[in-house]
Amino acid sequence: MRELSLHILDIAQNSISANSDSVRIAVIEDVENDLLTIMIKDDGRGMDDETLRRVVDPFYTTRTTRKVGLGIPMFKSSAEACDGEFEIKSQVGVGTEVKATFKYSHIDRVPLGNMADTIITVILSNPLLELIYTHKYNEEGFCLNTKEIRKTLGNEVPIDNIDVIMWLKEYIAEGIEEIRK
Ligand SMILES: Nc1ncnc2c1ncn2[C@@H]1O[C@H](COP(=O)(O)OP(=O)(O)OP(=O)(O)O)[C@@H](O)[C@H]1O
Ligand SMILES: [Mg+2]
Repeated sequence: MRELSLHILDIAQNSISANSDSVRIAVIEDVENDLLTIMIKDDGRGMDDETLRRVVDPFYTTRTTRKVGLGIPMFKSSAEACDGEFEIKSQVGVGTEVKATFKYSHIDRVPLGNMADTIITVILSNPLLELIYTHKYNEEGFCLNTKEIRKTLGNEVPIDNIDVIMWLKEYIAEGIEEIRK
């Protein structure tokens, strides 16, 4: 994929499909150590070992009756093509955690892309979700927690209100711009 944010969106959509109440997305740009880390953690239904194996390697079994997407394998190969590592852990009834690392300066490392759009898309996919987004750039950090936002908004205004969404998009974009200065 041309942008890492599209991988993040894909993995987060899986978390939403898995009926998660809470999803954590973390982006850590450790430029000083030439390392980019992306983590997506949910508290959804989780996967058993057999499913997990099939999801990571869609060609693992020929007994596959239902369609399995390529989102997870593609994220894995993106990381591995950039001298990085990929890890997925899952437990039925507990949740799933995906972690990918990239050599920050690797020639094949595609840009992170538009994280504000990605976060907004996740919020709109499930406005009731507790989404915790943290973004670090070296020592600087930005954090967004939709639970906090909803508390601030009160009962009158839903988080998917168009004005709130427009504001959030600006807020996230500015927050990321600020930590990168
Ligand atoms: N976070 C997750 N929690 C629980 N199950 C998951 C999670 N991520 C993936 N899965 C399981 O792996 C399957 C395959 O995921 P994948 O993203 O490859 O395809 P999909 O989501 O079914 O389809 P697509 O992404 O193409 O719409 C899912 O249907 C689901 O059973
Ligand atoms: Mg999917």
